[in-house]
Amino acid sequence: MIIVTGGAGFIGSNFIHTWLSLSDEPVLNLDKLTYAGNLENLSKFQSDSRYHFVRGDIGDRELLARLLQEHQPRAVINFAAESHVDRSIHGPGEFIETNVNGTFHLLESVRGFWQSLSVPGQTAFRFLHVSTDEVYGTLAPNDPAFSETNPFEPNSPYAASKAASDHLVRAWHHTYGLPVLTTNCSNNYGPYHFPEKLIPLVILNALAGKPLPIYGDGQQIRDWLYVEDHARAIIRVLQDGRVGETYNIGGHNEKANLEVVKTICQHLDALRPRADGKPYADQMTFVKDRPGHDRRYAIDASKISAELGWSPEETFESGLEKTVRWYLQNPAWVQNVTSGDYRQWVEKQYG
Ligand code: NAD
Ligand code: TYD
Repeated sequence: MIIVTGGAGFIGSNFIHTWLSLSDEPVLNLDKLTYAGNLENLSKFQSDSRYHFVRGDIGDRELLARLLQEHQPRAVINFAAESHVDRSIHGPGEFIETNVNGTFHLLESVRGFWQSLSVPGQTAFRFLHVSTDEVYGTLAPNDPAFSETNPFEPNSPYAASKAASDHLVRAWHHTYGLPVLTTNCSNNYGPYHFPEKLIPLVILNALAGKPLPIYGDGQQIRDWLYVEDHARAIIRVLQDGRVGETYNIGGHNEKANLEVVKTICQHLDALRPRADGKPYADQMTFVKDRPGHDRRYAIDASKISAELGWSPEETFESGLEKTVRWYLQNPAWVQNVTSGDYRQWVEKQYG
């Protein structure tokens, strides 16, 4: 079996959906259920014997030691993190706590477990750390895309905390021999995305008749990847990635934010026209820029493509249309997330 941390969040829950659609190997999901953790993302597996959930913190070594001993996983995949740049600007403390200290405690717990294994068990074991392209900093318009050898130049508290965690993972391999893999992925989008990030925020604000906030001039570029393509890439790296290596994952979809917002508006105009017949783009509003806003991210994914044969299955056009349709077809999920009802359930269930 495998242990996934942060599996109630956006990418972790999509990963569990993809994993269990491809394999019967059980998954234990360890998640603290912060505001970003939503068990409704995984309601499909509530009574599936292949899926187990434990509420807990990656910084809780006692809990980790017990779970590792009890379940004897062959791999741990670390998705758990604070993940939103704007929140990291308002309050960086939680980002240091989970992304840096939490990763440290997780690595130490996993190292203790790994050292207790037989030699074949140690050889087969993997710790896969899920990270971001934001560790590399920002690109000028004509710079080549980020490759795995780019220096780390993080610019936001979020990116700095993720860069620190990547360094810890690297060091635990070089110093202790822990069999680690690290993936650095570009911006994801798709189902179950919490509506604080650009794409779900714009879809839901548009439908609610609210302004669509565009930071600065809207010409910042992100390299968008459909979340299921990310999940498939992680599975490929887990299976055949070379221990100690990092793999960049990206969709070859560089888009300026303004273009992303306009495309969402066009999909909504076609699928759910406004009652007054006007275009959703009328709701676009330019607002104050994010401090230290990175101008451009782009991923060179040639290493994972050449070594592991991975490439994205969705184009930005097909993935974005699927995503808009998913939000239109899941009003109950949207309602619970926007009203905060999913939190009340969590508190009732888990105190
Ligand atoms: P998310 O914020 O949606 O989910 C994070 C999950 O981690 C939540 O379920 C939360 O409850 C859980 N969590 C937070 N602190 C925890 C702790 N201390 N112990 C246990 N669980 C905890 O994030 P996401 O977008 O799904 O991102 C997952 C990972 O992928 C993160 O490490 C992020 O840095 C990385 N990443 C994200 C993107 C993106 O576009 N969203 C791109 C590349 C990499
Ligand atoms: P976001 O989804 O927060 O991801 P990240 O900051 O990790 O790339 O933002 C994506 C881009 O969209 C980023 O350039 C900031 C911009 N943005 C807006 O213009 N308006 C918004 O309301 C949000 C949330 C983001």
